[in-house]
Amino acid sequence: MEFFERHQGGEKAILVHLDLKQQSASLDEDLSEFVLLAKSAGADIMATVTGSRQKPDARLYAGSGKVAELAALVQEKEADLVMFNHALSPAQERNLEKELQCRVLDRTGLILDIFAQRAQTFEGKLQVELAQLSHLSSRLVRGWTHLERQKGGIGMRGPGETQLETDRRLLKNRVTMLTERLEKVRQNRQQGRASRQKADIPTVSLVGYTNAGKSTLFNRMTHAEVYSADQLFATLDPTLRRINMPGIGPVVLVDTVGFIRHLPHQLVEAFRATLEETLEADLLLHIVDAASPERDAQIEAVNEVLDEIGSKSRILTVYNKIDLMEMREPRIDSDDEGLPQAVWLSAFSGAGIRELQSAISVLLVGELHSFRMTLSPDHGRLRAKLYELGAVLEETPQEGSLCALQVRMTPQSLDQLLRRSGLSAEDLAVTPPLDIPDPY
Ligand code: GTP
Repeated sequence: MEFFERHQGGEKAILVHLDLKQQSASLDEDLSEFVLLAKSAGADIMATVTGSRQKPDARLYAGSGKVAELAALVQEKEADLVMFNHALSPAQERNLEKELQCRVLDRTGLILDIFAQRAQTFEGKLQVELAQLSHLSSRLVRGWTHLERQKGGIGMRGPGETQLETDRRLLKNRVTMLTERLEKVRQNRQQGRASRQKADIPTVSLVGYTNAGKSTLFNRMTHAEVYSADQLFATLDPTLRRINMPGIGPVVLVDTVGFIRHLPHQLVEAFRATLEETLEADLLLHIVDAASPERDAQIEAVNEVLDEIGSKSRILTVYNKIDLMEMREPRIDSDDEGLPQAVWLSAFSGAGIRELQSAISVLLVGELHSFRMTLSPDHGRLRAKLYELGAVLEETPQEGSLCALQVRMTPQSLDQLLRRSGLSAEDLAVTPPLDIPDPY
């Protein structure tokens, strides 16, 4: 069965955003995000209707005057659907559809639709379908006869119309089946995670508000081509890559789904497992669109989700897009103890990537230092290992088949490497001398 049909071509949509007096979020910014969401779902926006109300109307959410205005607009623009930038109750959605004579979708439905379009992996698809079913189950009672039956379309992807008309028992069976399958996928992933932990490979996860630039930064760090676009939620499934970070060695880098304000609860639930994987990371990079006027609110929204899923990992804030700001110089902000708290960079231009790498290495393994050493042909394995770690800055041949290496790594890891190779710092004339504090 095809649960995730890709919709071809835009659908004519009218957007509705009401400024509720009880809420404080800025109207303009919230609206521009909503427009981006609608476009991400593939909508052709015919009109945007705004208004303000003291509180939502119980029956129609908007006032009856506003609804009459909308009905006329639907006729005039021949719109296929009306999207509300709010959470509508099933009853409100039903009443609105009757009044407007077209499909009505709320913010949750819209986000679910985008997720349905974007899910790539088996697990991602299962998660989205589960979230959709739970969103739909509360709406099953409504009957869909008042709307023309159509296949596909924004908010109609995923479980199809006929699915909706089947009885709740079938729905429940499907939910049970999906939950079981997801459980299996999760177990597999946990095994993968356990073997990574056993191999002692640190995990660094990228989290952040949607469109902050996670995928761009991920690509920059891995040289991989992960889909990045000026669309919301271009990344849905976590992408894992093993990379060699200079001076640290192998690190698993994880790109994740973007967060958003008022993330539908079903989605937080559905993606909990994926996010949990992220949260067990040794280090979280919180990517922030530093140039966004809504920067603080977005940081807040991400922190809320992290709180909700119980994150305890250490966080390094990455202020991205400095190329769009007046302050264009990359830099690291450190706390009183000299530990990096934030890095300012541009994933786009690459400025600040070095700073990011050294901040990550300080947090994961300690400060990076430069050392010089002299190797003879007998030290081939050590030399290869240093290259593998990405630690070699320069190699200069010396007389008598010797070579001088300049490396950048933590004193601890150099010390460890030498011990494992059965060598001492003196053997290789390491300068400056390795000064490892004795833990005892
Ligand atoms: P989601 O998948 O929605 O979570 O988005 P994301 O955080 O992965 O963002 P993505 O990398 O897709 O970038 C979003 C947009 O920001 C794209 O249009 C990027 O080209 C742009 N972008 C990313 N980094 C920078 C940057 O450093 N400077 C500028 N000017 N634009 C950037």
